[in-house]
Amino acid sequence: MKKRVEVLICGGTGCTSSGSDKVAERMIKELKKRNLLDEVNIIRTGCRGMCECGPVVKIYPDDVLYAQVEEKDVPEIVEEHIIKGRPVKRLLWHGIETPAEEKKHPFFSKQLRVVLSNCGEIDPENIEEYIAVGGYEALSKVLTEMTPEQVIDVVLKSGLRGRGGAGFPTGLKWKFGREAKGEEKYVICNGDEGDPGAFMDRSVFEGDPHAVIEGMIIAGYAIGAHKGYVYIRAEYPLAVKRIQIAINQAREYGLLGKNILETGFDFDIEVRQGAGAFVCGEETALIASIEGKRGQPRPKPPFPAQKGLWGKPTIINNVETLANIRHIILKGPEWFASIGTEKSKGTKVFALTGKLNNTGLVEVPMGITLGEIIYDIGGGIPKNKKFKAVQIGGPSGGCIPKEHLNTPVDYESLTSLGAIMGSGGLIVLDEDTCMVNMAKFFLEFTVDESCGQCPPCRIGLKQMLKILDRITKGEGKLEDIEELERLGKIIKEASLCGLGQTAPNPVLSTLRYFKDEYIEHIVDKKCRAGVCASLFYAPCENACPANVDVPRYVSLMAEGKLEEAFKIHMERNPFPSICGRVCPAFCEAKCERGKLDEPVAIREIKRVFADWAKEKGIGFAPPENPKKEKVAIIGAGPAGLSCAFYLTRLGYKPVVFEALPVAGGMMRIGIPDYRLPKDIVESEIKRIEKAGVEIRLNSPVSSIRELKEKGFDAIFIGIGAQESRKLNIPGEDLEGVTYGIDFLKMINLDRRIDLTDKRVMVFGGGSTAMDAARTALRLNAKEVIVSYRRSRNEMPAQPEEVEEAMEEGIKFLFLTNPVEFSGKEKLEKVKLTKMEFKGFDKSGRRRPVPVKGSEFDMDVDLAIVCIGQKAKISPFKDELEITERGQIKVNPRTLETSMPGVFAGGDVNNPSTVVEAVRDGRIAAISIDKYFGYDGILPFPERVEIETHYNEEKYLKEIPRKKPKLEDIEKRIKLLSLEVNKGLLKEEAMEEAKRCLHCDRGKKVVKKEIYLTEVKNG
Ligand SMILES: Cc1cc2nc3c(=O)[nH]c(=O)nc-3n(C[C@H](O)[C@H](O)[C@H](O)COP(=O)(O)OP(=O)(O)OC[C@H]3O[C@@H](n4cnc5c(N)ncnc54)[C@H](O)[C@@H]3O)c2cc1C
Ligand SMILES: Cc1cc2nc3c(=O)[nH]c(=O)nc-3n(C[C@H](O)[C@H](O)[C@H](O)COP(=O)(O)O)c2cc1C
Ligand code: SF4
Ligand code: SF4
Ligand code: FES
Repeated sequence: MKKRVEVLICGGTGCTSSGSDKVAERMIKELKKRNLLDEVNIIRTGCRGMCECGPVVKIYPDDVLYAQVEEKDVPEIVEEHIIKGRPVKRLLWHGIETPAEEKKHPFFSKQLRVVLSNCGEIDPENIEEYIAVGGYEALSKVLTEMTPEQVIDVVLKSGLRGRGGAGFPTGLKWKFGREAKGEEKYVICNGDEGDPGAFMDRSVFEGDPHAVIEGMIIAGYAIGAHKGYVYIRAEYPLAVKRIQIAINQAREYGLLGKNILETGFDFDIEVRQGAGAFVCGEETALIASIEGKRGQPRPKPPFPAQKGLWGKPTIINNVETLANIRHIILKGPEWFASIGTEKSKGTKVFALTGKLNNTGLVEVPMGITLGEIIYDIGGGIPKNKKFKAVQIGGPSGGCIPKEHLNTPVDYESLTSLGAIMGSGGLIVLDEDTCMVNMAKFFLEFTVDESCGQCPPCRIGLKQMLKILDRITKGEGKLEDIEELERLGKIIKEASLCGLGQTAPNPVLSTLRYFKDEYIEHIVDKKCRAGVCASLFYAPCENACPANVDVPRYVSLMAEGKLEEAFKIHMERNPFPSICGRVCPAFCEAKCERGKLDEPVAIREIKRVFADWAKEKGIGFAPPENPKKEKVAIIGAGPAGLSCAFYLTRLGYKPVVFEALPVAGGMMRIGIPDYRLPKDIVESEIKRIEKAGVEIRLNSPVSSIRELKEKGFDAIFIGIGAQESRKLNIPGEDLEGVTYGIDFLKMINLDRRIDLTDKRVMVFGGGSTAMDAARTALRLNAKEVIVSYRRSRNEMPAQPEEVEEAMEEGIKFLFLTNPVEFSGKEKLEKVKLTKMEFKGFDKSGRRRPVPVKGSEFDMDVDLAIVCIGQKAKISPFKDELEITERGQIKVNPRTLETSMPGVFAGGDVNNPSTVVEAVRDGRIAAISIDKYFGYDGILPFPERVEIETHYNEEKYLKEIPRKKPKLEDIEKRIKLLSLEVNKGLLKEEAMEEAKRCLHCDRGKKVVKKEIYLTEVKNG
């Protein structure tokens, strides 16, 4: 009976595990206390799909959706909402107040719920609720108005394909079943669902079990069967319970058993529970299991439709396939076929898991793109991490990388990319996933689950796993890659059943798209995701492009040993004061402490010991007996200077040729004073000079030959990326249009301009754009506006730069792009267009496209275009091999160019931060030493773990990280040279360092044989 209020409390597995039972019990108690049980109906539904926000509660007739409801919230819901009619705002799902707004949310608007239409909306344990929403009407229609052939024809016409993985046309399967000779036939519902991460079928059983029963009876009628089996794993107790209740109720209502609906048709269903072996989901193994035999696949043909259960014709369908049937019968095959793509019709249910904001159960029309599922429905990747790939199809499936986010979800497109639709497991992977380890995880699963009857599957998969295991331990060989490919192919071809035929897919697809990660594990002994424990000391050290030994210098800082901390840093990066200010802190993004409360403030700690060492004048002596070989370096940026510094440690006295009157590259002429004071840059360069480097300023180099003629035996090219990219729009050559690095270089070389009363517009979203905008503000501009073609989330600038710019009063126009500059003699106006996102680009980011007719004009006095830089390689392009992308071709491991003895690195080859340039410079120094026939081993002491003497336990509770003070906004925007970040005090930095969890303790790391990490004893 309908009551005044209906409270639907999700009783799906997700919400139950987050406490929905307690919410329901409390609801009953609170309503009873207020004598409201007669007015309010409490319904325990199946999964509503937003399991991430469970327990979920829906209240009708107001159509209000609450998320993450706890037991303690119930009295307020009863008091405020049920009694006073005022929804509890703080509990609303995404703060959404109206049903109309809720429907517009991409989580719902991009879904099409057919199979899941009842899930979360009806009480699955009450057949009347199912009947009230049209349940068993399709069955009635079939039994009273249609012949079995007509039913099969409708299913054929609908284009429905099996949702169990293989995508076989359901109508055709039924036709074979009907045509098969025999009095006794069977229908089996395959609810084994053994793939890790999948819970689609379980949710349908739990949320709408009658839909499956109705589909089975119709299938029975179509093929002429009178008996059906639901095969379901015993690990799904709630699903087992609900399907059993539903079967019992259907029997009571005359919908199962003899003479259904008095039409003379008999059909009954039995539930069989499986023990949870993945292979039992394979249809012939499943049949064996129902027959009480060992669940082992057998060769096909004969197919089950001819010879199935007990040797009789049997059709086996997946849960979701069967749950579609009633909708097809009621709404017609044309309706179903109108959804989806040419060959993949209807909808598909996916269990969205992994690194997504909205994990849960979703149903989408076929043909939707992967990007829409991940970013619109799934809400994108949490914590601003980068999307890496999506794994579809579980242990039989594969990975699809970011380049393919525009791929439509249909059987053929997914298969062509090396994945499969599978039964609906969709796992989103972010930058923290190691692809080799992920392939290993699925292979471990299939090795365990193989029934063992075919040698290729039994032995071959184990062999593949052994190889993967040694690769993740840093013991792999390059030949292993070929061996994995060879074994994978054989196993696929020679295995009897789908398990073996598809088990190599996760390995083969990761090899197809992520071979570089395999090579990194094997050659560089590096796991970029920081997962394979034998390959790194600590996540921070692993994430640092220069592999600076963060855990050791942080521990030394905690002990107050500043000089030692500084020296450890210098082993891998000679710019600690600079990086202590401007590094994007890759290390902090991966710091383990972040999982407990906040990452350790590694960059601030480094700044303190680095500035201390600068004050103390700690430096390095030049080589006493320099090696005889002469090395020239072109460019005094961080790449060139790092190469030079490490060459001095290897015994050389290199010469650096710099075109400009100052050294430091972009650190000196790009980054403004308020972020990086010039005296800091100059003092770190001085230290390098004192270590044995000669810098020749105002000395542009225009060819390699020129240096060879001067007697240099080896050369490093570190010329950076000095040429600005153009917008290529009309009016770009007007006076008043300039480029970020030209503008900043002019200011940094002390040619000041006054922008009083000027409106400045900056175009771009990276560090250069932020620096140009904030510099313009400090030069007195009346107004500074940044226009960026994407949204704030996609800005490549560091988040704190954007925040500080906003605090300083800089305005932002997101999703806008300039299309024309205009003015009589000089710039007066800019025409902008609004942008919107359509699809995804190759980098996996949303593609901004202009909105037609959205152009608008703005007055502007100075336009600063900051959309990127490229290298000016013209001096060397006749002497060196150049890539298709216009870069100097180098061996990525040695950085050697096509000319022996000539190396190149830093921004010239694309890296875009100081620390990456440092890494390249250091690699080049080692490569140069090896080029001369030496060992390339830097003379730094062997790594020893740092002992600490403070009470570590005290720091294991939640402690916020220490934040540096920032200069007062009013003061800082008036003075370009006033550093915004004032840094931590020594005592604060020591205290902060004690928050470190010492992830490197007791770690045994594989000795790395390549350039990055070699050290020498003593
Ligand atoms: C505005 C701006 C802000 C930035 N902010 C940050 C930041 O916050 N954090 C960060 O990590 N990175 C930042 N970067 C990036 C970083 O500065 C660069 O990645 C880094 O400086 C690249 O180092 P490099 O040695 O390869 O090149 P560069 O620093 O560009 O140095 C190259 C040097 O080579 C010289 N040169 C070029 N051609 C010749 C020639 N033919 N002969 C002789 N000399 C030559 C140039 O004059 C220059 O001095 C920023 C860059 C800019 C432009
Ligand atoms: C190892 C293995 C496991 C399988 N597991 C399932 C499963 O859990 N559920 C399922 O419906 N199909 C599973 N299948 C596919 C079934 O063999 C069969 O194709 C499917 O149940 C047919 O139903 P459909 O046509 O409705 O998709 C599996 C296949 C293999 C090879
Ligand atoms: S392929 Fe593997 S799981 Fe399938 S029958 Fe052969 S051994 Fe068993
Ligand atoms: S807790 Fe310490 S060792 Fe671990 S990642 Fe963070 S800084 Fe590095
Ligand atoms: S289990 Fe409640 S929403 Fe999925």
